Amino acid sequence: MSLLEVDDVVVQFGGVTAVDHAAFTAEAGRITGLIGPNGAGKTTCFNVISGLQKPNHGTVRFDGRSITRLPVHRRARRGMGRTFQRLEAFGSLTVRDNVRVARDIARGIGGLVRPAQADVDGLLEQVGIAAYADERADSIPTGTARLLELARCLASEPKLLLLDEPSSGLDESETDAFGELLAQLAAEGRGILMVEHDMDLVMSVCDDIHVLDFGRVIASGPPGEVRANPQVQQAYLGYSDAEPAAEPSDLTQELEVVR
Ligand SMILES: Nc1ncnc2c1ncn2[C@@H]1O[C@H](COP(=O)(O)OP(=O)(O)OP(=O)(O)O)[C@@H](O)[C@H]1O
Ligand SMILES: [Mg+2]
Repeated sequence: MSLLEVDDVVVQFGGVTAVDHAAFTAEAGRITGLIGPNGAGKTTCFNVISGLQKPNHGTVRFDGRSITRLPVHRRARRGMGRTFQRLEAFGSLTVRDNVRVARDIARGIGGLVRPAQADVDGLLEQVGIAAYADERADSIPTGTARLLELARCLASEPKLLLLDEPSSGLDESETDAFGELLAQLAAEGRGILMVEHDMDLVMSVCDDIHVLDFGRVIASGPPGEVRANPQVQQAYLGYSDAEPAAEPSDLTQELEVVR
């Protein structure tokens, strides 16, 4: 049984089919990438999984139970944590207080009975932003704010982390460190489902990848397989059948250009 199962989900906005019978899974202890061109339906899938968007059709199962009709807070209580494409921290609070508030809210919705396992300063250390603990959240660099977002999410001790473009705003060395951090979080047993445009990061850290195009899953598999898939290359690069497909080694570079 997978930690997360998205089964035959459809989302329509008026005449636009944003998600078209999509089915994919994410496993505990593994990093799963959800990739695809702009507008492919990735964020909409995240919204369906986390409960912000009601699907027109289909089922979402978490830990073996359907959560399709559960509101956001009850999904969070079951162990689903999410970061957003747009940063969501409280600007006027310090970095430490942002994480403290997130932890207190999580413990509150958990019934105030859980011990404070998520030690606030420990979380800041873990994601590498302890040096910013006393800074106001609106004064820190974007890369640091991304890591704060992750620490806030971890404060609820989630079984599954949903990360929407977590590396945007991180420089190259921060991205490398971030990849290592994700691997460590997965090794602790958490499932991670990540939407990400940085193909170097995706290809180096993901165990499994699902590719969306026009709302449909066009490929699923390990990075090497997905990267070599002609349909995936076509989705990103717009090649017709008559044109030669890019060498797999060119894909990363091309994907950057397409953005
Ligand atoms: N609330 C909405 N109302 C109408 N159309 C929407 C809404 N949200 C998304 N869409 C449309 O649904 C499609 C999928 O959008 P979505 O934001 O899920 O794509 P995405 O893969 O996350 O793209 P990006 O990589 O640019 O973040 C797009 O055509 C988008 O314009
Ligand atoms: Mg998006």
